[in-house]
Amino acid sequence: MTDTRLRCDRAPAWALLQDHYDCTGQGFDVRGAFTSDVHRVQRFTQPAPHLFADLSKNLIDPQAEDLLLQLAQETGLEAYRDAMFAGEAINNTEQRAVMHWLLRSPQGTATANAQVAGALRDVHTTLDAMLELAERVRNDDAITDIVNIGIGGSDLGPSVVVKALEDMRHAGKRLHFISNVDGMELGTMLRQLRAESTLFLIASKTFTTAETMSNAHAARRWFLAQGGSEDRDAAMSLSKHFYALTTNIEAAAQFGIDTTLGFWDWVGGRYSLWSAIGLPIAIAIGAERFRAMLAGAQAMDEHFRTAPLAQNLPVRLGLLDVWYRNFHGFTSRSVAPYSHGLRRLPAYLQQLEMESNGKGVDAQGESLPFATSPVIWGEPGTNGQHAFFQMIHQGPDIIPVEFIALREPGRDLADQHPRLLANALAQAKALMLGRANDDGHRRFSGNRPSTFLVLERLDPASLGALIALYEHRVFVSGALWGINSFDQWGVELGKVLAKDLEPRLASGSGEGLDPSTAGLLAYLRGG
Ligand code: F6P
Repeated sequence: MTDTRLRCDRAPAWALLQDHYDCTGQGFDVRGAFTSDVHRVQRFTQPAPHLFADLSKNLIDPQAEDLLLQLAQETGLEAYRDAMFAGEAINNTEQRAVMHWLLRSPQGTATANAQVAGALRDVHTTLDAMLELAERVRNDDAITDIVNIGIGGSDLGPSVVVKALEDMRHAGKRLHFISNVDGMELGTMLRQLRAESTLFLIASKTFTTAETMSNAHAARRWFLAQGGSEDRDAAMSLSKHFYALTTNIEAAAQFGIDTTLGFWDWVGGRYSLWSAIGLPIAIAIGAERFRAMLAGAQAMDEHFRTAPLAQNLPVRLGLLDVWYRNFHGFTSRSVAPYSHGLRRLPAYLQQLEMESNGKGVDAQGESLPFATSPVIWGEPGTNGQHAFFQMIHQGPDIIPVEFIALREPGRDLADQHPRLLANALAQAKALMLGRANDDGHRRFSGNRPSTFLVLERLDPASLGALIALYEHRVFVSGALWGINSFDQWGVELGKVLAKDLEPRLASGSGEGLDPSTAGLLAYLRGG
């Protein structure tokens, strides 16, 4: 596929944005903006499927947003988005299409591309098989514990969703997520399990990831030591207690696994929770709710695909990200879900955004003269308020905050929900308005930006929509920056070096190593 995008710094609007920033943007005061523009709330709020966004507390004026929209048009965002939805190989360094959106497309959705139509049929065949398998596990009283062994996208997506939808989890099934190669994680877990009632899901797109394979083999050894058998006919056979979720069906078979749910190379790891990698979700919440999650995400896909840019929430958020990163120079964004259920969302978003857009070259491999992904970090509210909000309110760095609140309370202690919401509202208000005081210690400068997202409720559809919103927002900033958001070459080097270093920890050989690594190796060996 030829990349028809114009990189943002080469588009006419880029220089206009810089001028606007120099004249108005850097001195912009959001408090004054509300006074001078009575339509500000209306202008900077945006409904989208299953959620509502208030962007009005951000350091942006209508003129900046218009210029950003112009930038989006000049760079060819719409054509690039349409290329993704047409199944073109926009992941150019790996020559792959990017079609996680197809995983949530209803059966029979019309498409001009015969290959995409074929892929959609495969998607639904696998989805039906996965949901059927999930129902079988749900109905199998002998299985009480399901252990997902995976890392990165094969862990974070399913784990964030299962935690978020805990209220809907099958009462007889405990879901566990093991990702770290640190033996403490799996070891602690195994001590609590009984082999006969445990099902292991080995989740790995490639089925080669060192951490996952190491944990999978350790789990296999433990299972056999507990009386499990490689004999398929045995009562406690490996094949009944280990399933694989992978694109590498052959490697799973070599591991001794008979039950494998496949997916395709056009599903990126960090975009894979909608695929077979979602099996733990389906086991936790059941087929119907899993389909509701897909439908919520699909509604967001449609919004992103069809809404005019100026009323398109992923577009507006992605453009704001460009404004903040490249003109204001903000280096990070804090995500504050005011929801215990969404406590792992910041970790999930770290991979989604930083692995996608943490790039220093454009899609053609040319070094970029501007910054890309901000650092994404955060903790659920109100916990963050008692940890790092001090810095967000009074530190010298400006850190845009993304509040995420739920309109409806969850099942438990609903009477506490207004207190939770009041805290989220109060923080956003305090950041914006600040507080004058002669005593510098007690002064809040204010004019600190935030976005406020409100989810209807924490249910599968809203959650699906929220996650798809983030996927597309990351697409938007990556598209403007001219990068390939769908590869991750930056994770390769460390993997290669770890392979070389592991045997050295046993042998002690420091030959050819840099002095620092050689010194650490010696110290770690106790020498
Ligand atoms: O190391 C990065 C990465 O490739 C991620 O992109 C991916 O989600 C993760 O590793 C796990 O990969 P796999 O599913 O192939 O085990």
